[in-house]
Amino acid sequence: MGIVFNEDSLSFKLDTDNTSYVIGIADEEKFIGHCYYGARVSDDDLTYMLRTAEAPFVPSKNARERGSFFDLFPVEYPGNGLGDYREGAVEVRCPNQSRAVNFTYKGHNIYAGKKALPGLPATFGSENECQSLELYAEDSVLGLEATLVYSVFEKEDVITRSVSVTNRNSEPIHLTKVMSASVDMDDEDYQMISLHGSWARERQIEYRPVAYGRQNAASFKGESSHQEHPFIALASKDIAQDYGKVYAFHFVYSGNFLAQVEKGQFDTVRVIMGIHPYGFDWKLDKDECFTVPEVVMTFSDTGLGTMTRNLHDLYRNHLIRSPYKDRKRPILINNWEATYFDFNTEKLLDIAREAKKCGIEMLVMDDGWFGHRNDDSTSLGDWKVNEEKLPGGLPYLVSEVNKIGLKFGIWFEPEMISPESDLYREHSDWAISIPGREATRSRNQLVLDLSNPEVVDYVYEAVASVLRSANIEYVKWDMNRQLTDLHSNYLPDDRQGELYHRYVLAVYELQERLTKEFPELLLENCSGGGARFDPGMLYYSPQIWCSDDTDAIERLKIQEGTALIYPLSAMGAHVSDCPNHTVGRVTPFETRGNVALCGTFGYELDITKIPESDRAQIPAQVAAYHKYNDLVRNGDYYRIASYSENKIYDCYGVVAKDKSEALIIYVSVLNRPNFHSRRICVPGLDAKKRYRVEGTDQVFYGDTLMNAGLIILNLWGDFQSKLIHLVGED
Ligand code: DGJ
Repeated sequence: MGIVFNEDSLSFKLDTDNTSYVIGIADEEKFIGHCYYGARVSDDDLTYMLRTAEAPFVPSKNARERGSFFDLFPVEYPGNGLGDYREGAVEVRCPNQSRAVNFTYKGHNIYAGKKALPGLPATFGSENECQSLELYAEDSVLGLEATLVYSVFEKEDVITRSVSVTNRNSEPIHLTKVMSASVDMDDEDYQMISLHGSWARERQIEYRPVAYGRQNAASFKGESSHQEHPFIALASKDIAQDYGKVYAFHFVYSGNFLAQVEKGQFDTVRVIMGIHPYGFDWKLDKDECFTVPEVVMTFSDTGLGTMTRNLHDLYRNHLIRSPYKDRKRPILINNWEATYFDFNTEKLLDIAREAKKCGIEMLVMDDGWFGHRNDDSTSLGDWKVNEEKLPGGLPYLVSEVNKIGLKFGIWFEPEMISPESDLYREHSDWAISIPGREATRSRNQLVLDLSNPEVVDYVYEAVASVLRSANIEYVKWDMNRQLTDLHSNYLPDDRQGELYHRYVLAVYELQERLTKEFPELLLENCSGGGARFDPGMLYYSPQIWCSDDTDAIERLKIQEGTALIYPLSAMGAHVSDCPNHTVGRVTPFETRGNVALCGTFGYELDITKIPESDRAQIPAQVAAYHKYNDLVRNGDYYRIASYSENKIYDCYGVVAKDKSEALIIYVSVLNRPNFHSRRICVPGLDAKKRYRVEGTDQVFYGDTLMNAGLIILNLWGDFQSKLIHLVGED
C-alpha cells in the first residue's frame, strides 16, 4: 500500500517506489503540516520535522507568538491573512470583505484507485495502479471546507494533488485564489528550471538560482502560452541527466497559471502551483463546490533523466486516453506551408496523388477552406465549406482523397470569431469584449465567449456537423490568439471573475464531447504552434503541434525542452520546405527527416514542387518511420547531449523498455575545422547484452556502449545528422 496513516502521530506517509511524501497534523489545533518530500524513507512518523517544539513558535502554548508560528510552520495548504506572509494557496472575499482563511484537519479517507475531477482533465489509474488520500479540512469561522486530494502512482514515482473547496455558509463566499498545490521545504541551494519561449521558439530550458523573494513562471493570457510553461522544477546545483536531485511540478491545465518558488527569511522555500489569481474571482453559493486542476509531482535523486522518464510514463499510461496513444499515427501531409490560403480541390488532389506515391498516408487540409477565407481577415465562425475553392464540398473532396488511398484530416479554429463573418453579424454579443470599448483584435479576430452554453452548443454543432458530413479521420484544433478584453455578455457582474476558467472548462467540454461522439478521431491540438502544449490538452488529444517553427535546427531546442517533460509520441513534428519559412535556413532534407522522426512525423510542404532529390528521399523516411515508431512511441528517452548547452551538436536516444534495441539521433549543427570524431556514450542499455550497430559489423556489450561509447566520425558540412540503430543480439 502506497499510503500509510500513523494513528499515534497523526501522520500520513505516501510512498512511491523511490520517494516518500509525509504530512503531519500538529498541535491540538490540528494544523496540517508538511513534514517531508524526497527520497524514500522508512519511518512513518516524521512529525518532528514540523519543529513545533521549537520556542517561541509553539502555537497554542504561546499565543503571544502566533504570528511567528504561522510565518514559519511548514504548511501543507497555506491560507492567508493570519501571519504567514509567504504566498498563500487560498484567499477568499467574504460578505464583510475579510480575506483571511485557515484550514485545519477534520478527517481523512484512504482508498485504492483515483476519482476523476469533474469537468477537468486529470491522470487516472485503476485500483491496482494507484491509491488516493483525501484529507478533509475546514475553516470553521468561514464555514468553508476543503478536501486535499493526493494520489500515489508508485511505479512512476509520481504523486498528484488537487483540492476542492465547498461553501457551507448561507452567505456566498468568493474564492479569489485557490492553488492546487503548495510544498514547503528547506532550501538546499536549489536552482529553478523553467521553460520559456515565444511564438516559434517555445519551451526553451532555463536554469536560474533560487534567490530570496519570489520567482515564477506564469500566464494570464487565457492559455498556457508560448511564453511561459506550467512547469517548474527545483534542482540541486550539480544536476545532470544521471545525477543530482530534482523536484518537478507540472500543472494539468490549459489556462492561466502561476508556478512559483519563494525563498524566505528562514532559508525555506515554498513552491506553489495553480490557477493564476489574476482576474480570478469565483463565487461560491451555499453548498457549491469548486475543484481545482491537478498538479503532478515527481522527485528524482538520480538526475533529470529519471524525472523525464517518470513523466513520460505517467502521461503515456495515465493521462492520454485516445485510442491512438498505443498506435502508430498515419503519416500526414499538411498543406499549410505548401499553399497557405491559396488552394482548391485540384491543388489538394495533386498533393495527395504525389504524397501517395511516396507512402504518405493522410492529407490534412489546413486553414482557408470555409466561408470566404482567403486570408486571415474573415470567416472564423462560419464553418461552411467554400464551394468556390472546393466545388462539391467536403463529401466530394474527401471521397477523391480516399480514392487516391489517403485518409483525410481537417483544420478548425472553433473558439474564434472574425468580425467579418455571418456569425458576428448575427451574434456580435458572442465575442468576449468590454461594453463601450472597442475589442482588441489579434490576427484580425476575436474570441468567442465560451462561458455562454449557447455559444458552446453552436461551436460543437458547427464542428460536429462538418465531421458527420464526410469521412474525416483527423482534426487539427487550432487557437491563434490569446485572450484580452475580459468581459462576458452572458455572465452576471458578480461572476465576471469566472470567465477565464469557464472558458478553459468549455474547451475541455467541447473536446470531451467531440472525442465521445467520434471515438476514432485522431485529434491534434495546436495554438499558433505550441501555445497550448500542456498536460490538460493531452487528456483529449494524444498529440499536440509543437511549434510553427519547423526548421530542423530550431526544432532541436524546442523538442529538447518539450521532451524534457512530454513523451515523444505527443510531439507534432513535420518535415518542411527550405529555405525554412520561419528562419530562412537551408538544411539537408535528411536532417529534417531525422529530427521529425522523434515526433509524430509528417510533411508540411508542397510535395509537387520540392526538388526531385528531396522527394526521392521521402520513401526511405517513411520506411524509417514505420521501422522505428513503435520504439520512439513506447521506449525510454535519454538526452545524451544538448545543442542548446554546447552550441555544437545534439544527441538523444530511445531505448526499448525491454532493452532489446535503441535508436540514437545525432545532429552536428555547425561543422568544425580540423575535427575528427566524437565519442557518444549510450545510456540505458542492458550491460550484459550484446548490441550490433546496424549496417556495420560492430558488436559491443551494453556496458561498453554505456561507458566507453561509440565513435562518430565527423560529418562533412553543416546541419548533418545520423541515425544509429543498436540491435540487441540473443
Ligand atoms: C497556426 C498553426 O500553428 C499553423 O500550423 C496553421 O494551422 C495556422 N495557424 C493556420 O492559420
